[in-house]
Amino acid sequence: MSSISNRDRQLKLSYQQKLPNQMVTALVVLDSQLTIKYVNPAAEALLVKSFNKLYDLPITTVFYNSPIKKERLEQLLTSGQEFSDSDVTIEFFDHSRITVEITASSVEFSKQPHIILEFKQIDQQKQMSIEAFQHQQWESSRDLIRGLAHEIKNPLGGLRGAAQLLSKELTQEQQEYTEMIIEQADRLTNLVDKLLGPNQLPQMAKQNIHIVLEKVFKLINFNNPKNIKFIRDYDPSIPEISFDQDKLQQAVLNIVNNAVQIIDEGCKITLKTRAASNKTINGRRVKLCVQISIIDNGPGIPKKIQDTLFYPMVSARDNGTGLGLSISQTLVQQHKGKLSCYSRPGHTEFLILLPLQEENNNEC
Ligand SMILES: Nc1ncnc2c1ncn2[C@@H]1O[C@H](COP(=O)(O)OP(=O)(O)OP(=O)(O)O)[C@@H](O)[C@H]1O
Ligand SMILES: [Mg+2]
Repeated sequence: MSSISNRDRQLKLSYQQKLPNQMVTALVVLDSQLTIKYVNPAAEALLVKSFNKLYDLPITTVFYNSPIKKERLEQLLTSGQEFSDSDVTIEFFDHSRITVEITASSVEFSKQPHIILEFKQIDQQKQMSIEAFQHQQWESSRDLIRGLAHEIKNPLGGLRGAAQLLSKELTQEQQEYTEMIIEQADRLTNLVDKLLGPNQLPQMAKQNIHIVLEKVFKLINFNNPKNIKFIRDYDPSIPEISFDQDKLQQAVLNIVNNAVQIIDEGCKITLKTRAASNKTINGRRVKLCVQISIIDNGPGIPKKIQDTLFYPMVSARDNGTGLGLSISQTLVQQHKGKLSCYSRPGHTEFLILLPLQEENNNEC
């Protein structure tokens, strides 16, 4: 009898000791001062630091942009009410990011209140389906606007033509009115053309990606009244890639122009390139990519437009038509690429991914 209970006891101890080590969920235990007292191997991997290095660190210092506010954890300690947040983006000090689900619960160890944080990394499949959904939404809003723009364009041409004919019948004084009709019709045609978006297929040629960034840099730096500091951080080893120079230049220019319009005097814009492997682009696995980042240290994208940022006619700027980013997205997609954005106050990063090599080893 006693040997069975001994075995049970050993088994229990073994479960207690080994289970956290085998879990895929990252576990972090905090004491009441919110400092780290325990991490399992999955948490060491997630936080890219060993238990020894993490031990006794305040949890808020582990992340560049802490995903959980100190006040919420303090509240958990007093109320004991656990919470869960899904789709949380964690940013580390090297600016790499992961998306996780976080659950926080309270527990007592040695009669002292503690917090258990569980981090579950959102798997690639889920990330791909989120991206595919966003892509679908973007496509349908773009198609809707295009359809509408198309319907407006035809009668607008008729209206302008009729005003032109009518003006021939009128005195010079009366022509003032038809001129106004023509002027406003031209203004609308301009807008409608922008709404219709790029209508020519890209002229692809294999070349160095930095040509595009250097052109944009020169164009903007030529007239730089805000004295913005430009940092060019290029990876010269990136191989040549097929793209349409004008189109990609327009895509990058729209993004840089936005930053220039929004940031204050003396702020900085970084143009960065890197090669990146194993990425997903709108649901496709891509083995090798060119990654172009346009980063500014301005105020950040207003929260209320972040989810619909690339949709046409979304703007938070006085006199903005909200078409620049939608056009950039179309131009990047014409290159089978992806444009995304991550923003918080003080750091806005637009990321263009262009495929160099698909998963099945085909060169793009
Ligand atoms: N780097 C940035 N920092 C902060 N907000 C930004 C940044 N880039 C874009 N935005 C926000 O995104 C909105 C949409 O940009 P978008 O280029 O599509 O339209 P717009 O600049 O308003 O008008 P348009 O480009 O058509 O003249 C902007 O109005 C601005 O509020
Ligand atoms: Mg713009």
